[in-house]
Amino acid sequence: MKDNYFFDNASTSFPKPEVVYRFMDSFARSTAVNPGRSGYTLSVESEQMVLQTRRMLASFFNYNGDPARIVFTQNITDSLNLALQSILRDGGHVVTTSMEHNSVLRPLTHMAKTGLELTHVEADADGYINVDTLTSACRHNTRLIVVNHGSNVTGAVQPLQEISAVCRNKGIPLLLDTAQTAGVVPIDLDKTPVDLLAFTGHKGLFGPMGIGGLVVANSDLQLNPARVGGTGVDSKDPLHPQIYPYRLEAGTLAVPAIAGLHAAQQWFALLGKELNKHPSNMVDNHAFDIAGFNPAIELDTAAPAKNHQTACATAQLAIGRHEITHIDRIVNALVAHPAIRILGQRQVGLSRVATMSIVMKHMPATMLADRLDDEHHICVRAGLHCAPMAHQQLGTDESEGALRISPGVFTTDDDVEHLINALLVLADS
Ligand SMILES: Cc1ncc(COP(=O)(O)O)c(C=O)c1O
Repeated sequence: MKDNYFFDNASTSFPKPEVVYRFMDSFARSTAVNPGRSGYTLSVESEQMVLQTRRMLASFFNYNGDPARIVFTQNITDSLNLALQSILRDGGHVVTTSMEHNSVLRPLTHMAKTGLELTHVEADADGYINVDTLTSACRHNTRLIVVNHGSNVTGAVQPLQEISAVCRNKGIPLLLDTAQTAGVVPIDLDKTPVDLLAFTGHKGLFGPMGIGGLVVANSDLQLNPARVGGTGVDSKDPLHPQIYPYRLEAGTLAVPAIAGLHAAQQWFALLGKELNKHPSNMVDNHAFDIAGFNPAIELDTAAPAKNHQTACATAQLAIGRHEITHIDRIVNALVAHPAIRILGQRQVGLSRVATMSIVMKHMPATMLADRLDDEHHICVRAGLHCAPMAHQQLGTDESEGALRISPGVFTTDDDVEHLINALLVLADS
């Protein structure tokens, strides 16, 4: 038995590609001084890395606007708070869904106390939002639609194209939570406009913890900073600068963490190029060892290659498919067991990410998680997964929630077999 079988990638991807650790270490030792605060060469190099990471992320999401409108935050919770508190500061009405994470539910509930009108559109039994219901929930004073792109409970991926079209038709901005999708579901802002795209660095984007961001794609939206202070520009002005990215970034950035994202972006692009050389890899997920893909990378300051976006999209599709192969196998092994209930969708082929939750009839989820850890060294998360409304709807809020299983790109077939055997032993006990 291994020391750990990690099935909690919905919480954070672990481990990261080797190049992310290596580059963070080398950049932290060689270059990670305060970017943009001074004119000396080292500071400029640090700034170039940060700028280049914004440019690569712009290409990754196929955002054709100014990369300075991609602002760095601590995590997606920070990004979502920044957007919500800015757009909804004067109240009005907001439409969101029952599948949201507390990083949306809680800020909105707090704002509802001071007059914000709030509508939660309910998902169906599989965790999907009906676009017509979302449309009819909009009112004359709806200021924002907030949607969790991929559920961190059932894995359901919402129909972004249709939701984006509704927002365009109604002239209501869309704030998208991509915590569970960025890195496994290619998002193309050119084809599918999203006004505010929030991302977190430490999940599917393979960066470290402590870094996230917000793409302020709609330049008509005036976002106000959550914090003001030093930026390294216009120091004489007693007021905070209006220009991006400084407008929304006060204080020293998490440069070593941004270096991790920088390396991960290059890893995605190189992986995609490698996969594109051998299209058969895209058919047979196991023909190419994605997890073992370990190219050498260096600081990249040239404008991102034109094919960065397409290469990254190829890599994301391959990673998503690899992970869902594991989910399909787990679902197939558990679906007929009388003691196990799988929450949400069971069919293969629905639009989803590789996260699923189960309940075992005779054992609370927390006890199940403890036994999986103690007896089988399996890391999984039990409880409500910071998504209490989703659990309420799925009928698992009263019973300590569910057990969530989320394989990642480094999960092997043997890991999956170990998990299935352990779950079947406990289900039969
Ligand atoms: C859908 C969703 N939104 C937001 C978050 C919050 O992410 P972070 O803790 O990185 O801010 C998570 C984390 O699990 C999530 O799954």
